[in-house]
Amino acid sequence: MPSFREAILITGGAGFIGSHTVRRFVNNHPDKLIINLDKLTYAGNLENLRDIEGKENYLFIKGDIADTEVVEKIFREHPVTGVIHLAAESHVDRSITDPMAFIRTNVIGTVTLMNAARKAWGDNLSGKRFYQISTDEVYGSLGPEGRFTEETPYDPQSPYSASKASADHFVRAYGNTYGLPFVITNCSNNYGPYQFPEKLIPLTINNILHERPIPVYGQGENIRDWLYVEDHAQAIELVYFNGREGRTYNIGGDNEWKNIDLVKKLCDITDRLLGRPEGSSRRLITFVKDRAGHDLRYAIDASRIRRELGWQPRTSFDEGLTRTVRWYLDNTEWLEHVISGEYEKYYEKQYGRR
Ligand code: NAD
Ligand code: TYD
Repeated sequence: MPSFREAILITGGAGFIGSHTVRRFVNNHPDKLIINLDKLTYAGNLENLRDIEGKENYLFIKGDIADTEVVEKIFREHPVTGVIHLAAESHVDRSITDPMAFIRTNVIGTVTLMNAARKAWGDNLSGKRFYQISTDEVYGSLGPEGRFTEETPYDPQSPYSASKASADHFVRAYGNTYGLPFVITNCSNNYGPYQFPEKLIPLTINNILHERPIPVYGQGENIRDWLYVEDHAQAIELVYFNGREGRTYNIGGDNEWKNIDLVKKLCDITDRLLGRPEGSSRRLITFVKDRAGHDLRYAIDASRIRRELGWQPRTSFDEGLTRTVRWYLDNTEWLEHVISGEYEKYYEKQYGRR
């Protein structure tokens, strides 16, 4: 391997958003070594990165962010100047059944990474950066009006969002106490290729494909603000290089949808692409028991990142959803591979037998 003067450590790079981020950094920054540290949990899949795995500036390391030895070794062996921290347990429903896994990875893992960065960087903090990738869910649940700004007080409502909020607090505390140079972004719901089919959009596409019931929680009235994953990865690159130290940026799609309307739209797009008669998949929609403590609405005010960094989403929802559905239809092998025994077991526990 050639020697690099600078390395960026990306955690969770084998996951959904992480793989898009790693691909972008590897392709756009050939002068920097991009290290992907990932434990390869059920959500991590190296098939997501097949197209860049042979690149000279890419290094994959299988390991746990909460393992001090693993993390310190990376900082000892490579000239890491920045960390882009995406590794997390990320699914709200799983956090309801197993909150401890979320505390371990999302809280302890984040602090372990920052400790290793501090140890390696010492007082030599110029040009260093710890970038915490967070979620809009830390702000809690909105009523019908208003949007989350960077000043909205944290009010997490699920074990997942509580663990992410806790990690964000630790990052700011490390900035304040030890001068760790950091930046945080809080993004709304992402969608696109390579998302694990436990999340609403890929789960719906997969069930349509197999003509299985589409589980919609409660009455489907909950609202999410959807952003195409490539637009998020582009924002991450912008914030990593140009974001102001110690600053928080909200990232969102300005694209609010009620779950039931989104699922209907997905049914129609998928039917069209599969050449099925109009309306045939809508019949699969099934209202099921609501998620415990289900947040009603998320919506992001992204004016700061637009104003300060000139970012804006480039992909319209119609374009992004069509591209996403087509990708899942073209990559049924990927789908079959990720729907491992473990996912099948999870599915049965969550929704009952098929
Ligand atoms: P994901 O579940 O698809 O991927 C998570 C990745 O982290 C996987 O590759 C997994 O193997 C890895 N990982 C988990 N625990 C680990 C550990 N202990 N050590 C090392 N690696 C570990 O998640 P995602 O949807 O891509 O989300 C990535 C990040 O973005 C998370 O921090 C999440 O909170 C945040 N986020 C996600 C969304 C969204 O809509 N998906 C929105 C806003 C913010
Ligand atoms: P999800 O994709 O799990 O993301 P998050 O909970 O982090 O926003 O869920 C998106 C929305 O879809 C949320 O309101 C819950 C709902 N949902 C369903 O109605 N059915 C499902 O099977 C899933 C997974 C989610």
